[in-house]
Amino acid sequence: MRLIQGAEEMRGLCRAAKARSGRLGFVPTMGALHAGHLSLVRAARAQSSVVAASIFVNPAQFGPREDYSRYPRNLESDCALFENEGVELVFAPEAGEMYREDSASWVLVEGLSERLCGRTRPGHFRGVATVVAKLFHIVEPDIAFFGQKDAAQVAIVRRMVRDLNFALAIVVCPIVREPDGLALSSRNAYLGPEERYSAPVLFRSLERVRRLFDGGERNSSELIRAAREEFLAEPAVRLDYLEVVDPDSLEPEPEIRKKALVAVAARIGSTRLIDNILLEP
Ligand code: PAF
Repeated sequence: MRLIQGAEEMRGLCRAAKARSGRLGFVPTMGALHAGHLSLVRAARAQSSVVAASIFVNPAQFGPREDYSRYPRNLESDCALFENEGVELVFAPEAGEMYREDSASWVLVEGLSERLCGRTRPGHFRGVATVVAKLFHIVEPDIAFFGQKDAAQVAIVRRMVRDLNFALAIVVCPIVREPDGLALSSRNAYLGPEERYSAPVLFRSLERVRRLFDGGERNSSELIRAAREEFLAEPAVRLDYLEVVDPDSLEPEPEIRKKALVAVAARIGSTRLIDNILLEP
């Protein structure tokens, strides 16, 4: 495994790896790796002949009062995990390598970027789309792997790839969960013991939606009302949103007549968690 900090060096090594081996799979991350990230690497290994990954805590996707400075950074142990999983190239640039002081170009996926987390995190998805576009230009992968947990990110990256004619395929891998249902996230590390105990309420609310849906309920207001009840038992958890939306446009779906995304975000103390399920009639 090689650790690379320079964008031009990474591009050269990725091109050489592709010429040598064929299909290049790419797993972009912000590090603080957990089993969810490793499932992306395993999918990448199964579907490509060589795998590159990135570790970059992207300042452009954090708001001024968000957790950029305290976001967990474990470069050494992350590299060991990637090496163990057979990643060949790891790109871990400094912020100055990705953004010059006078950077003036951004990628904005209009409309979608203001929905779900975009409503309370202005600029977040502009930062995500910009860094993902930059990483795609540097790595030039044939196929890139994202987790379903960040469902809005998936919709935005897919739309960007389509609209800007990136020549690559996006693969979305299932959410990996703790035994009590909590979706794996690097931010789970922030949770104190009581907060950790309350955190699976997000998953329980989604399970409630799924049960009602399986019993024939298709009205989104009814599904949301029932799901919100789960939060009454957890006063320390502040619901941010719980919505039923189209998974591609992220527009609200009043009735579930086709595939729908049920997405939830909540705050526990200073930690913001998200989760979702997909429903298909
Ligand atoms: O999902 C993440 O970890 C980040 O949003 C990503 C895609 C690596 C962009 O910084």
